[in-house]
Amino acid sequence: MADGGSGTRSSLASMRAESGIVRIGIVGAGNIASMNVAGYLSDPRCAVVAVCDPREGRAAQMAAEWGVPRAYTALGDVLADPDIDAVEILTPTNLHYEHVLAALAAGKHVSCQKPLANSVGQAREMARAAEEAGLILRVSECFRHYPPLELAKRLIDAGAIGKPTHLRSRTVVGQTESAFQSGLDIDGYMWRMTAESPGGHLFDDMIHKYAVALWLLDQDIVSVQAAVRRRDYYFEPCAAIFEYEDPDVLGSMEVSYAPDMWLRSAYYGADEFFEIQGDSGNLWVTRCTGQMLDLPAVVLYDGAKGSQTTTTFPHVDDDWGAGFRRASTHFVDALVDGVPAEMSADEAVKALQLCFAVYEAGNTRLPVDPRTIDDRVVPDGWPKP
Ligand SMILES: NC(=O)c1ccc[n+]([C@@H]2O[C@H](COP(=O)([O-])OP(=O)(O)OC[C@H]3O[C@@H](n4cnc5c(N)ncnc54)[C@H](O)[C@@H]3O)[C@@H](O)[C@H]2O)c1
Repeated sequence: MADGGSGTRSSLASMRAESGIVRIGIVGAGNIASMNVAGYLSDPRCAVVAVCDPREGRAAQMAAEWGVPRAYTALGDVLADPDIDAVEILTPTNLHYEHVLAALAAGKHVSCQKPLANSVGQAREMARAAEEAGLILRVSECFRHYPPLELAKRLIDAGAIGKPTHLRSRTVVGQTESAFQSGLDIDGYMWRMTAESPGGHLFDDMIHKYAVALWLLDQDIVSVQAAVRRRDYYFEPCAAIFEYEDPDVLGSMEVSYAPDMWLRSAYYGADEFFEIQGDSGNLWVTRCTGQMLDLPAVVLYDGAKGSQTTTTFPHVDDDWGAGFRRASTHFVDALVDGVPAEMSADEAVKALQLCFAVYEAGNTRLPVDPRTIDDRVVPDGWPKP
């Protein structure tokens, strides 16, 4: 992974010297694009100089909305633009492999939406291509930049709950009346429901939660057991158990579908909770995408003898959109200052392996070591390519 190695640093230094600011091209201007672009538009160290989308009128429309000077309809044209240093790939997941490799071949640094690719093998090839080119390739993982989860990570690393022993993640998908949800273009969902995708919700959305489960405890998961179900559309209720590298550390993941449950949200009709138990304390992150519970976003219980205190953190920004904005700003940090670009392609590979291990465990009802997965696993009943 080229994350600030010497080759990358020198190319970044020359890029800065020439233009003063980083010039970014947006590839794919669909449902999620405005969320990612907001962070770049507000960062004075970069300029969004081009938008590319093949849909009739879409690139021009979004370029006008974002105040971006150039609109392209062909990927080859935006990648041939010499006045672009880096691209943000926001195209359907099944196209990431082709688009990321083309961008790297054109000499552009790349930030790509999750999941990085449709298979572990593709993701590894993309990581290799970036390394060989001395270019940055990172995945824009909004959950890793969501302020309550960033705070949770800092608290865990500082020993606030003692040694972590259990991580529980819970995702529920219901309904909401948010303007964001009602403004989504339904066509942007079709590629998620067909053989163009290797799986459903446990691939497309839960990849965030797999990334968090690995990042928060900073160790590999070596065994997965899971029960996976199928409901409407692409929803896949699931209960899974994770064994981490350290045998004292366990994880559990619950994914529920609640079609008749309406919840407060400024975004999707969904919410997530994380609960991390340590030897001497407990930590809750009580909201991510939605605002289902009237609870502070982060609650810490310090149960060390003589302490026994509960702390909340009222000033932490719990707008889920902040994770997107901060993810974009972080890519600029990596381009400008050479800090390691998160989430690295190697970490994205591990998140994909965990995702496919859950499918494999669901299919076989046997424990699966995610590290053995080199390709992909399609859940039983999902359309085969
Ligand atoms: N972080 C999150 O929470 C989050 C949320 C939604 C989507 N995503 C991810 O973002 C990506 C895009 O998702 P979406 O919901 O916006 O999908 P979408 O289908 O709404 O948008 C994709 C856009 O890419 C365009 N496109 C297709 N081929 C192209 C090409 N060759 N060159 C340029 N543009 C091209 C399409 O015309 C479309 O406008 C996916 O990888 C998805 O998994 C992430």
